[in-house]
This record gives sequence, structure tokens and C-alpha cells, in this order.
Amino acid sequence: MKRIFSGVKPTGHLTLGNYLGAVRRWVDVDQHRAEALFCIVDLHALTVEHDPARVRRLSRQAATLLLAAGLEPEHCTLFVQSHVDEHARLSYLLECTATDGEMRRMIQYREKSARERARGGSVRLSLLTYPVLMAADILAYGTEEVPVGDDQAQHVELTRDLAVRFNQRYGHTFTVPKATHPAVAARVRDLQDPASKMGKSGDAGGGVVFLLDEPEVVRRKVMRAVTDSGHDVVYDRAERPGLANLLDVLAACRGAGSDPAVLAGEYSSYGDLKREVADGVVELLRPLRKRHAELVADPGYVDGVLREGAARARELARPLVDRAYRAVGLMPPV
Ligand code: TRP
Repeated sequence: MKRIFSGVKPTGHLTLGNYLGAVRRWVDVDQHRAEALFCIVDLHALTVEHDPARVRRLSRQAATLLLAAGLEPEHCTLFVQSHVDEHARLSYLLECTATDGEMRRMIQYREKSARERARGGSVRLSLLTYPVLMAADILAYGTEEVPVGDDQAQHVELTRDLAVRFNQRYGHTFTVPKATHPAVAARVRDLQDPASKMGKSGDAGGGVVFLLDEPEVVRRKVMRAVTDSGHDVVYDRAERPGLANLLDVLAACRGAGSDPAVLAGEYSSYGDLKREVADGVVELLRPLRKRHAELVADPGYVDGVLREGAARARELARPLVDRAYRAVGLMPPV
């Protein structure tokens, strides 16, 4: 069976964008078609200033939400990155494979470090080395496919380069993975700023729907979504991005086969459409919120899933990372 790996960073509450853009596909498709590993990548949450209690809380919450969304421990491996030493162990070997120049060329690093410096802040070294740790996450499991958003494509490209380089230098060790960008996943945009994606960190403007938002909060956010000038409801991503986003969300809520351009024809006013979107999102999230509440009441269950997930992950990664240690010339323990 194909091995696939993906990760969620516990840096914010999971959003409707995370769910429709990635998690739903992990649940409906990926966990059934492949040997899938899903990882709460907590080490990655430490690359920028962070609050320890918040990272801890968000890690547990992310794991609970992924289970609530329908990941099943019988079908996939769900675990916390820092519970498996192999990630950090392999990351160091890959730091010895990557070059300073290629790390500094990473777009996300350039953007994030520039922003941090503009604010007068300092940049953690781990922000620069972050993609190497991500490569370790992927390579430690012999991963073949990495389902990620477009913003991670460059990091997966780097992962491939590092795998190929390592294999050439030290003998075949790593599977060379590839990124998969699900064609059907909705690219949900911020409701207040349709030019940006609906991300965990963009909550300031109220344009981000979180999976655990109360129904009234969801409704308010949707009703206040920015729309474009004009009154008729048409689907035009370039000219009417706010409206197109609402139609995309509605189509995603309706499920496979629903076409935003066709849906547009069913509404004569922005108000009608927004009410429909609000209802759609509230109903989509209702079972997830309910299951989440049940799981929160049963922390022993979640702990058990994560414990077994980490054990399974270790079992897979350990021999491969040991082999890499031997390949580069490190002396086996005596
Ligand atoms: N960098 C990814 C993000 O910001 C998260 C991530 C870390 C990841 N390690 C990974 C994704 C390995 C896929 C595979 O979203």
C-alpha cells in the first residue's frame, strides 16, 4: 500500500479552510486508499515566538478535532511529532545534506523572516531550518505521497532534492516522495479578505471560521463576509472574488458534484446566498462539534490513540533512520 504523510501545525485553532481544503479528504479518501500517517507537528510550532501552554493545548485540540472529523485509528496513524525522536534525529542528518544557500532561498522563510525583522524582532534559527525538519518528517517514513497545499510545494521539492542527494552520496536510503495537491479540495478564502487563504493566523478581521465556533458566531462571520459591488449572483473568481468564495464554500458544504457556477443561478440576492452558506456551514460542522465534545469528555481515549500512534510511527521510522545513521558513517552503538 502507498505510504502517505501529512502534518498539521498546532499554531492556531483549526479552520473551515483546513477542513475543506485538507482534512476532509484525509478522512474520506486518504486514510482508506493508503497507509496514512497524520502528524501534529508540534516542533514546527516553536519556530516563532510561542506560548508553551498554548502549544500544548492546541496540540491536544488538533488531535481531538482530527478524530472528531473522522480519522479512524484502525485506518491511519495519528500521532504527535515530538513523541517520536526519529524526526529530530533525522533532521540533523538532513541539515548535513542541505546547503545554507538553498535554505535561504525558501520563499516562506524569506517572507516570514522579512516580516519579523520589519517588526524589529529576531528570527529563530529554526525558522531557517524548518523545511529540513519537514523533510525529516516525510523521509523518516519512506513516504511516497504528501498531500499538502500549494504553499508547501517548495518544501516538498526541497525534500525530494535532499532525498536524491543523500541517496547519491551514501547509497539508496530514502524513497523520493511527491506532493499531491488534491484537485477537488476547496481553496477557501478569508471572508474579510478573499485575496488570502483562510488561515489559522488570520483571525484578526473576523474572516476566519474556526471548526469550534458556536453556530451564532459562524452565522455572524458569514453574514458579514465582504461581497463585491453588484447585486446579481454570478460566479466569477477574478471579478467577484468575495462572492465566488461564498459559492465555493456552499458547493463544498453540499459535497461532491456540487458546482458553484450552477449554485449561483439559484440565488437572486447576496442576503439569500449568505443565509444559505451560514446554514450550510453550521450543519457541516454540527456533527464534528458534537463528536469533539464527546472526545473531550473522554481524554483517556484520545491519549490511547496518540500513544499507539506514536508507537506505530516509531516502529516504522526507527529502522530507516538507523540505516541513514549507518550510511553517513556514524558508528553503531557498541
Ligand atoms: N509545513 C507544513 C505547514 O505549514 C506542516 C508540515 C510539517 C507538514 N511537516 C510536514 C506537512 C510534513 C506535510 C508533511 O502546513
